[in-house]
Amino acid sequence: MSLKRVGIITGGGDCSGLNAVIRAVVRAAIIQEGAKVIGIETGFEGLIFNRTQELTIRSTRDILTLGGTILGTTNKGDPFSYREIGADGSMVIHDYSEKAIDVFNALDLDCLFVVGGEGTLELGYKFYRRGVPVIGIPKTIDNDLHKTDYTFGFQTAVQVACDALDRLHTTGKSHQRVMILEVMGRNAGWIALEAGIAGGAHIILIPEIPYNLEYVLNKIRFRERGGSPFSIIMLAEGASEEGGSAVVTEAAETRLQGVEKLGGVGFYLAEQITKHIDLEVRCTVLGHIQRGGSPCSFDRTLGTRLGAYAVEAAANHEFGIMVALKTPDIISVPLAKLAGKVRTIPQDHQLIRTAESIGINLGRDRY
Ligand code: F6P
Repeated sequence: MSLKRVGIITGGGDCSGLNAVIRAVVRAAIIQEGAKVIGIETGFEGLIFNRTQELTIRSTRDILTLGGTILGTTNKGDPFSYREIGADGSMVIHDYSEKAIDVFNALDLDCLFVVGGEGTLELGYKFYRRGVPVIGIPKTIDNDLHKTDYTFGFQTAVQVACDALDRLHTTGKSHQRVMILEVMGRNAGWIALEAGIAGGAHIILIPEIPYNLEYVLNKIRFRERGGSPFSIIMLAEGASEEGGSAVVTEAAETRLQGVEKLGGVGFYLAEQITKHIDLEVRCTVLGHIQRGGSPCSFDRTLGTRLGAYAVEAAANHEFGIMVALKTPDIISVPLAKLAGKVRTIPQDHQLIRTAESIGINLGRDRY
């Protein structure tokens, strides 16, 4: 037994499966190591301002199926560049990293489990280089992290998007409409492509393939001529037209967050289609529904495996790593290898070939 006290943080946007990870870390740390587990509240903000709670087997009972994170999270609060709005309305940026390290030391932790996406894991790596024994655990609905086959949260989001598509299918067909479903994923089209294939979309538009409006219109007309006067379009929020750029909204929030907020491309596309086609067009933006709620079984199992393995790695003093799924195994990879890069869909990915070979239009085929 080499661990006495360990800490865990959930940072960045939430997703389903975070509580499964917390529960697994708590149980493995207590059962295997007899360690105490300290939960840091609201991401790295909790480390800066010393907001913590002890996590026990009792306090984490019944959270396996619960969405969100019992620790809270934020996608603001970077300790190296902490943004605050001053009394006069101007923005002030503080470097609170030293303060956060002092709190870590005062908590007397052997290890810090950092559960997050690309941004949070990059912060974890920065702290590791400053001497904090960090182990990263990959999460995000976007599935855009390198060095892991899947991130937990993704499959749940795909299922939610697929269910939405099934519902849009029946109403769209009944009313002879073009139904657009805009899904999340930031600059990666994983959710749109997987859920679009699973939900039988006729057109799937992803950031990796800028779409040609003419070809999208062709597909809708082609279907109409063939006796199907309705079409289902699965659209990733980061998709853009050839020569255009993604639609960005809610710019005000970026002041504190420092990240562009995508969304709204669905309404833009609806307007474009309406100008050229007589069918009615409707757009649904699925938004945060993809992030909330109970995790699917795949994400519960993956989260549990990652959490338990992370404790094993900590007991072996393996730090500066991220635990990852390399099917069928959980392995560790150096955090250094992630280096703030995101994984979009490669142009030659088999899912792209699969979609096009069965006639799904990705905005670059004539029909
Ligand atoms: O990264 C996860 C994600 O849900 C993206 O798919 C989306 O663009 C973004 O977060 C939304 O962020 P927020 O919760 O700040 O609106």
